[in-house]
Amino acid sequence: MTPLAERYRERLPLTAATRVVSLGEGATPLLHAPRLGERLGIDLWLKWEPSNPTGSYKDRGMTIAVTKALEEGAQAVICASTGNTAASAAAYAARAGIPALVLQPEGAVAGGKLAQTRMLGARVLEIRGSFDQALDAARELAARGTHALVNSLNPYRIEGQKTAVFEIVEELDAPPDIFVIPYGGGGNTTAYAMGLSELGLGAELVSVEATDRVRTLATAIRIAAPAHAAAVARTRARVVSVSDEQIVAAWLELARVEGLFCEPSSAAGLAALAADSPVGARVVCTITGHGLKDAEAAARHAPEPVRVEADADAIAAAARIPGAAR
Ligand code: F0G
Repeated sequence: MTPLAERYRERLPLTAATRVVSLGEGATPLLHAPRLGERLGIDLWLKWEPSNPTGSYKDRGMTIAVTKALEEGAQAVICASTGNTAASAAAYAARAGIPALVLQPEGAVAGGKLAQTRMLGARVLEIRGSFDQALDAARELAARGTHALVNSLNPYRIEGQKTAVFEIVEELDAPPDIFVIPYGGGGNTTAYAMGLSELGLGAELVSVEATDRVRTLATAIRIAAPAHAAAVARTRARVVSVSDEQIVAAWLELARVEGLFCEPSSAAGLAALAADSPVGARVVCTITGHGLKDAEAAARHAPEPVRVEADADAIAAAARIPGAAR
């Protein structure tokens, strides 16, 4: 598989001499979602970013950020994270053979992401504070020169993430009418805006945040003060907010109707489409992270399994199989 850094080399800040750090990111599926699309009255396509190596879209930016960090002589990387950036930074740092230091808001990171980051050998520090406080600390430490900051404030992250737009437009052979993505810190919104502007496209970009940014169950986007808020305001992106109830409903519906299990934050875009459907439009909604990253959230919202003896009659009765019970 061609890494996205090779595929889009001429549109990225890389030279012929750059040694790319890759785990096979990019080239994720663009899935047509006819049943959900019909319910919403739109031609719906889903960019399935959980197919990236660490299960989220972060890998698109991290391959470029860690590649450039190495090229510029960095000895280590640092990030603050609600979980996915952490796992991605840990993976690419391991691949590059340098240490990763990860700052996470204590008690606010989904279990799968934390397990992933620990397994990948990062040094994980749980900060007594919010994501915003962890990010401030990461920036301050990075400024001391020991670590390269690989949060999306690192411009190479944005460069890598813009490639999702290139892939979508290539795959559809034309731009969709509307791109829809979740909005946490806003890095991905600025990345999509950059991709659109580099292709000279005027497609609409809708960026969806949680109404209650401080407490949302979608911990990936639990960010009170988005670092890219000013940059997002300079893009043409339309910012929309959705409640946790709307996120959960869209999240469950995506799983049951299309067979795709994502993490709650990734359903924010679908929640916005359900609330205000652009009837008749061709829409690409980016699903940013895998559902297995937040198994606790799934366990809280999906039906409980039923306990039953290993007996055909008991099972037939419990499963309510018509005609199978004797
Ligand atoms: N979706 C997922 C799965 C995320 O992990 C994030 C952000 C977003 C959407 C929002 O993207 O911040 O570019 O607006 N996760 C960051 C992290 C904050 O630390 O993993 P954004």
